[in-house]
Amino acid sequence: MELKGKRIVLRPYLKKDERRLAELANDKTVSRFTRIPCPYKLKDAKNFIKSSNYNIRKKEEYPFAITLNDEMIGGVSLIRLDKRDNRAELGYWLGKPYRRKGYAIEAAKLVLDFGFRKLKLNKILVSCAKQNNDSKRLIDKLHAKEEV
Ligand SMILES: CC(C)(COP(=O)(O)OP(=O)(O)OC[C@H]1O[C@@H](n2cnc3c(N)ncnc32)[C@H](O)[C@@H]1OP(=O)(O)O)[C@@H](O)C(=O)NCCC(=O)NCCS
Repeated sequence: MELKGKRIVLRPYLKKDERRLAELANDKTVSRFTRIPCPYKLKDAKNFIKSSNYNIRKKEEYPFAITLNDEMIGGVSLIRLDKRDNRAELGYWLGKPYRRKGYAIEAAKLVLDFGFRKLKLNKILVSCAKQNNDSKRLIDKLHAKEEV
């Protein structure tokens, strides 16, 4: 399962991503606003990749590696799939050197398209902390409908 964008490709995590995932995710700017813990060790990356593929097989979650020339640069996922109400939540992060280049918005749009068209979801929730201005700008660009 591959989702191709103009510059990036989203694909399931592979064993060869372990080292890069451990390097890029081990960063306080990532852990601050995500569920990714810091420190993030190679062991954590290995466990995550194993469970992410299991979750895709079970259709429980859809975690994709964001790749550039087949090199992982971040992650984007549909999580908390609610099969009864056909809903999910969107999550994303990029390794620090890859931010502010439009890769996250490209990844988010690809996954939203996958969620709505392929998985036939009715609703995909996206949220961020008040102080997370980078994520807030991205959400604005997605034209998400605000809910209070
Ligand atoms: C949130 C996060 C993914 C946003 O990443 P990002 O790279 O800023 O997001 P985008 O892909 O939307 O890129 C937008 C920026 O790229 C710039 N850009 C440069 N080239 C571009 C191109 N070809 N196309 C589009 N945008 C481009 C845009 O001008 C924009 O800059 P601006 O924010 O100064 O206006 C990133 O900050 C991150 O990983 N944060 C830590 C984890 C996190 O907070 N995750 C979200 C939890 S809710």
